[in-house]
Amino acid sequence: MARGRDPGDSTVTRVAVIPGDGIGPEVVRSGVAVMQAAASVDSSQELEFEEFPWGSEYYLEHGVMMPEDALETLRGFDEIYLGAVGWPTVPDHVSLWGLLLPIRRSFDQYVNLRPARLLRGVESPLRIADPAALDITVVRENTEGEYSDAGGRLYRGTPHELAVQESVFTRRGVERILHYAYELAVERSGHLVGATKSNGISITMPFFDEIFREVGEEYPGVEASLMHADALAARLVLNPEHFDVVVGSNLFGDLLSEITAAISGAIGIAPSANLNPTGEFPSLFEPIHGSAPDITGKGVANPAGAIWAASLLLEHAGHATAGERILDALEEAIASGAKTPDLGGTATTKEVTEAVIGRLAGTPGG
Ligand code: IPM
Ligand code: MN
Repeated sequence: MARGRDPGDSTVTRVAVIPGDGIGPEVVRSGVAVMQAAASVDSSQELEFEEFPWGSEYYLEHGVMMPEDALETLRGFDEIYLGAVGWPTVPDHVSLWGLLLPIRRSFDQYVNLRPARLLRGVESPLRIADPAALDITVVRENTEGEYSDAGGRLYRGTPHELAVQESVFTRRGVERILHYAYELAVERSGHLVGATKSNGISITMPFFDEIFREVGEEYPGVEASLMHADALAARLVLNPEHFDVVVGSNLFGDLLSEITAAISGAIGIAPSANLNPTGEFPSLFEPIHGSAPDITGKGVANPAGAIWAASLLLEHAGHATAGERILDALEEAIASGAKTPDLGGTATTKEVTEAVIGRLAGTPGG
């Protein structure tokens, strides 16, 4: 799915690991163990991990979320594997704009790919006649749109206080994310829905719609339509089987992918691939869930999202078969009852991880 690097590029894939905050380190430990297990059954596939202790604790000690040369350091890796960022003692906009968001932007990871599927053994909160029909990939624009630091606050502390934040949509940015989404639709079922809001947002969204149609002319085989994001949100809940590839701006993609994650069982399962499709920079893989302070340290965090993200990482690194095997092993483990409390089970993070690794061991592939 993710067009990745050619495995012939080099024999060793170097992965920078940022465990981050809260349950981040717990689920990242699982994901790394699973990747190592997948690699150990296939000698052609060498993985090298280096861990970086950046995040909110680092911030409390050093006043920054990561060191000044962090991006330079990360640049030397093939892929980045992240746990979670955010902790109650550091304001969210400080922690996120100090770590995850600069990585997404500096490395031009303009595609945020968020697949959602109802894995066997997982129950959707929805009543779905055909669970296999729930298979949606959200393609989220990841570098511009509503997430911009252009703006400011004036007249602080007075009754006239105001805040302005600009949304930024560039032709280049919109065209490239739409091309990616149309290409993905071609690879999958040929069905694409674009999330708009051109009824209420009168400048940027008609611009998005216009480019959606223009780019669509290059893909006559794709059945493409635009839906207002509010109606689309409702439709995702009412008729998820109607959707295949959904593309949206940074904020719409964020919101809609949280819905697709929730309806496919639990937020804890869903992965996210932040891709730099040109391969000029490393891409970043993470579960979509946050740091979950309420369950941190209890050993019950669901490692599925991080494990699925690990599967996407290997696929992107050119080890498609290993990636698939990880996802299959995860699905089998869950189907046979290895479920954390968020999925209605009683298994610990460690037990789920062991169940997945047990299913990987000895299965050949590459
Ligand atoms: C996500 C998260 C981030 C985002 C936050 C933590 C900035 O919600 O990856 O979906 O909105 O991009
Ligand atoms: Mn989000």
